Amino acid sequence: MDGIKFGHAWLVCTLLLCVLQLCRALVTVNVPPEVEVLKDETAKLPCTYTASPSSDNTIVEWHVEVQGNRKRVAYLTQGGEAKSDKDAPLNGRVSISEDNTLTIASVQPSDGLVFFCSVTAGPAGNGQASTMIKVFFAPEKPTLTQASSQAISVGQPDSSEIGSCVTMNGHPQPRIIWFKDGQPLAEVKDKKEKTYMVPSLVKEASGLYTVRSTLYMQPVKADKDSVFECTVEYSMPGEQIKQKKSDTINLNLNYPSETATFTLVNPGAVKEGDNVTMKCETDGNPQPEFEFTKDDKVVLGQDGLLTLKSAKRTDAGVYTCKAIDFDNLDADLTGEITLSVHYIDPMSVTPAKPQVVMLGDSVEWQCKTKASAPHTVQWKKGSEVLSQDGTLSITADSYEKDGEYRCVGAVPSVPGLMDQASATLTIKGKPVIETLVGGEVSNEGDAISLKCSAYGSPVPQFTWKPSGKESVTVEGNKVVSTVVLAASAAVVKDGVTCEVANEYGTDSKTFSVSLKRAIQNSADRADQQQGGSSGVVIAVVVCVLLLLLLVALIYFLNKKSKLPCAKKDKKEVADAEVNNDIVVEMKTDKANEEAGLLHKRPPAEQ
Ligand SMILES: *[C@@H]1O[C@H](CO)[C@@H](O)[C@H](O)[C@H]1NC(C)=O
Repeated sequence: MDGIKFGHAWLVCTLLLCVLQLCRALVTVNVPPEVEVLKDETAKLPCTYTASPSSDNTIVEWHVEVQGNRKRVAYLTQGGEAKSDKDAPLNGRVSISEDNTLTIASVQPSDGLVFFCSVTAGPAGNGQASTMIKVFFAPEKPTLTQASSQAISVGQPDSSEIGSCVTMNGHPQPRIIWFKDGQPLAEVKDKKEKTYMVPSLVKEASGLYTVRSTLYMQPVKADKDSVFECTVEYSMPGEQIKQKKSDTINLNLNYPSETATFTLVNPGAVKEGDNVTMKCETDGNPQPEFEFTKDDKVVLGQDGLLTLKSAKRTDAGVYTCKAIDFDNLDADLTGEITLSVHYIDPMSVTPAKPQVVMLGDSVEWQCKTKASAPHTVQWKKGSEVLSQDGTLSITADSYEKDGEYRCVGAVPSVPGLMDQASATLTIKGKPVIETLVGGEVSNEGDAISLKCSAYGSPVPQFTWKPSGKESVTVEGNKVVSTVVLAASAAVVKDGVTCEVANEYGTDSKTFSVSLKRAIQNSADRADQQQGGSSGVVIAVVVCVLLLLLLVALIYFLNKKSKLPCAKKDKKEVADAEVNNDIVVEMKTDKANEEAGLLHKRPPAEQ
């Protein structure tokens, strides 16, 4: 029983001790497990606590662990004393605020440390919690450099360096990933593999990382057009993973030739005068040396091109290109071209000399040529086709047939292959007036200009009747004479005659010259035709008008002074009775008056 009691007592005692222990540890401190911050920015490390029983003598301290040693950087007392420790790590960049938060300005990669927030709260005892700073900084875009300017040959026993990818100044350490034709390459560090990467890492004085990766491969011919690039993959706050891509590179790859091709570069059939280019190339890189032969004789080419400047028919033949690739001596690297050079011989025209015939005579030309393919022969004058069979027969029945004829040969199957020759026909004979243009004048006596054009060889002489101011111009094979003369009455009546003459004869034609028959001119015409008589008509009309006016005036005056005038009249009538000519017929008073008037007139006229 005693044993049991003792046991109970011990248990109670132990429980008490436990309670006492718990009471002593009633300070709880809370900090975030880690704080993420970008380099050069400000980090805030919060710290909260609960203490029981509460104390009025609490002190909060921040420590940092550097190389296993914990050093205080700042503290805060209940009395409000906030201090940063001198000569501690991060000196000058830390401060503590009233809510216990530790603020670190201008965070550096080296600040990525563990920080402790410790709280000492008098009777409640003390507690602490730790937090960690994670510093981030984005690396620069990676730079991809080709291994060397020298080409890599396929089939090498060892892997060759393809290129080197460098990305500078990242934090935390970034990762380089290689891509070939857009596909990521597995990261292989084993140098026994055909493809592997050799990484290297540099920690800069700033604490940032510069990462390099060099890619080695054993490329094959299929890689000749492959595109390589690298990307850097790096972390940023908030568990973000980001990437930056490099520029791309291609391989400078050498691979042996397996086949050769020899082609004619000219697009169509080759004709004489063309520049001919034949190209020889292989499927290897670089291109080997080429040797060209024509009918087993060496001809000189350059860089796989064989050029014939202004080809001749004798350049036709079998051309061979032969390449020797010392990396593949077994390959048959030859090609062959059978070159045809189309041609047309100069057109041969008979008779060759210019032909002179008399008007009305006939002439015939023959034209022919030879060509490398079926050809056509056409006789043309201007754009008009006169014959398709090489024979040109002309009856020189008109001076218009005088001139140049062309014989054009062409090979329809070879565009642009043609030749031509010309033949000249001169027609001699008596002149022929081709056209004459009559004229009109407004008034007789006006100057008129007339043209007379005539064919004829030798050049005819012009005679105008009547003559005027003459001038002669030549328009092609016709001659034009222009005359300016006055359209006299004789000219209007008989016209003007143009007469042409040369040693073979004459021709003449007459122009009619007329007066313009416009309505507004009819009065003029009447005037002109009747000449002086119209003047007489006008004079008569004017006289009659004047007479009427006078009669009207006298009558008016007589009416105004009727009575005195009547007395006078009676007396005068009496006087006039001896004059038996007019007065006898005056029977009324009115007639008397008029008779008086008439009687009075002769003195007025005097
Ligand atoms: C051929 O080449 C020369 C220059 O090399 C050029 O002057 C000439 O016009 C070319 N001839 C033809 C038909 O293209």
